[in-house]
Amino acid sequence: MASLLVTGGAGFIGSNFVAHWTATHPNDRVTVLDLLTYAGNRANLDGQPAELVVGDIRDEALVSELIDSRQVDTIVHFAAESHVDRSILGPDAFIETNVLGTHALLKAARKAWVDGGKPHRFHHVSTDEVYGTLGPSDPAFREDTPYAPNSPYSASKAASDHLVRAYHHTYGLTTTTSNCSNNYGPFHFPEKLIPLFILNTLHGRSLPIYGDGMQVRDWLHVEDHCRGIAAVIQHGRPGETYNIGGGAELPNIRVIDTLCAEVDKLFAADSALAERFPDAPAASGKPSSSLKTFVTDRPGHDRRYAIDCHKATAELGYEPKHSFESGLAQTLRWYLDHEDWWRGILDGSYRQWVETNYGGRQTAAG
Ligand code: NAD
Ligand code: TYD
Repeated sequence: MASLLVTGGAGFIGSNFVAHWTATHPNDRVTVLDLLTYAGNRANLDGQPAELVVGDIRDEALVSELIDSRQVDTIVHFAAESHVDRSILGPDAFIETNVLGTHALLKAARKAWVDGGKPHRFHHVSTDEVYGTLGPSDPAFREDTPYAPNSPYSASKAASDHLVRAYHHTYGLTTTTSNCSNNYGPFHFPEKLIPLFILNTLHGRSLPIYGDGMQVRDWLHVEDHCRGIAAVIQHGRPGETYNIGGGAELPNIRVIDTLCAEVDKLFAADSALAERFPDAPAASGKPSSSLKTFVTDRPGHDRRYAIDCHKATAELGYEPKHSFESGLAQTLRWYLDHEDWWRGILDGSYRQWVETNYGGRQTAAG
């Protein structure tokens, strides 16, 4: 029986991971350490057999106490500031949480495990954005692609990756790192492209497409990501990094058009949706794509990410199971079936943040 400390487990990917791990390892103990920032949500853990401790990963004494009292042997580190646009508006929080927070965790883990001579694993969850941007015909990112982060977010994640690497090489901490592509799926906070555009479509609000919309991302269903992380934790070699991708490299405009077509299809098949969401163009038979609006590009916007996950496939047997089309349809269905969840977010601190930073410009639904 293992005892896991999952940082950021009340966020999007962390809560999906807790669901995955507790379902597949029912005898393990899972403790979540989460500060419940704007992105953290108790409701994401509803019904899950995990203990939530509200606290800061920068609090080294708290982390040490949790490792000790819960006899933690595995840390799975998700906690982070995760949104590129926010990092452009205010980079400080990204350095604080992603760099200093990761370092505080590493210090506590080293003290408890290396100094204490205990078997352990520290798994760090990172991003493909640390590798920078690709041209249209460049080969996909591999684990040995040089780091070239371009946003304050990716720079802070790159710094945290380097710290994890250093704690393995210098102090002998048993670490693994995974670098994944753009996740989507249930519990995704509605500031990121897919959930934001789902809610804006339902509310008849514009879909703000940065620049020409031809930026390319690889889309990874969060359940595939969680299976990949679990495989790395169980079978990954200490000190190694593994790329985890979704095998779905698409320009943003294709993602948006696919989503709009799926919304139109559901409204056409179910008249109750028009009653629930009368402001949606699809409620009056108009295409959701009529909401598409090209806006000023994001500063420093990376053009293309693509991920080569052959190493995870060869060593760990990892392969994504979701196709983008079926994963997106399932995600849209989830948002339609969980209105209470997203209403709670839109009526809370998120609305204030949008008003403060975007001066009332339509960015989010609600
Ligand atoms: P998220 O923003 O949804 O959740 C982050 C969680 O961390 C929240 O619950 C928040 O309350 C918590 N947190 C923030 N600061 C904290 C602190 N100081 N102490 C304790 N908890 C704190 O993020 P996500 O999308 O679930 O991403 C999880 C991890 O995966 C991050 O490390 C992110 O960099 C990485 N990642 C995400 C994606 C993606 O597409 N979402 C892609 C690649 C990598
Ligand atoms: P996002 O979900 O913010 O993830 P990341 O920046 O980590 O890739 O954005 C995904 C892509 O969608 C990215 O190229 C930026 C673009 N985008 C828009 O065009 N409009 C939006 O309102 C948002 C949030 C993102």
